[in-house]
Amino acid sequence: MTDPTPDAWRRVDAYLTSTLVGGDDALVAAVADQNAAGLPAIEVAPVNGKLLHLLARMSGARRVLEIGTLGAYSTIWMARALPADGVVVTIEAEPRNAEIARANVDRAGVGERVEIRLGRAAEVLPTLEGEPPFDLVFIDADKESNTIYLDWAARLGRSGTVVVVDNIGRGGEVANPATERSDVIGAQRGLELLGRDPRFEATALQTLDAKGWDGVAIALVV
Ligand code: DHB
Ligand code: MG
Repeated sequence: MTDPTPDAWRRVDAYLTSTLVGGDDALVAAVADQNAAGLPAIEVAPVNGKLLHLLARMSGARRVLEIGTLGAYSTIWMARALPADGVVVTIEAEPRNAEIARANVDRAGVGERVEIRLGRAAEVLPTLEGEPPFDLVFIDADKESNTIYLDWAARLGRSGTVVVVDNIGRGGEVANPATERSDVIGAQRGLELLGRDPRFEATALQTLDAKGWDGVAIALVV
């Protein structure tokens, strides 16, 4: 077996991406414009964008909640999985990111299926109470708030809602109980909540892709 060196990861990721995911002008342009605007290059890898897309389709999602829009790369993947009357409600704290995101979803042809809510997620989430439940929730914002976001995912979801949490591996640091990184502690607290909270059944997968060594948690609201 090949050692999982960064080079080998990248080769396999490129192979899987070219074999299964393919290219796409709107997604390439979304990332290019995000980068040109100086936003951080922390959108999900293509294989993970496709995972989100497939989870939305597999679960028959019509209403998706995303916490952390950035340049809307993952938003576009999920919006494309929805029926014409479906919606991605995506929360973004940075006005500049939201501007780039709006242009990107419009160019991708999914603008009518995407609502960008500007503000801190902890403040926007309570305003969604009373709306129909979300079928899929993707949590990809400040990791320190993951437990808050998971609690809202359960409250704004229903039995059967799929919940995905990005960045739960953090280069292996998640397994360090003495870590002092607040993002990793946030990831750990989120995973511990998923493990003990009876509202969820969850697992997690490590990911080795263009974005390095990280992971995603995948949960079901029971
Ligand atoms: C970071 C955030 C992310 O959501 C991600 O996917 C990768 C990195 C970060 O804040 O460093
Ligand atoms: Mg992320």
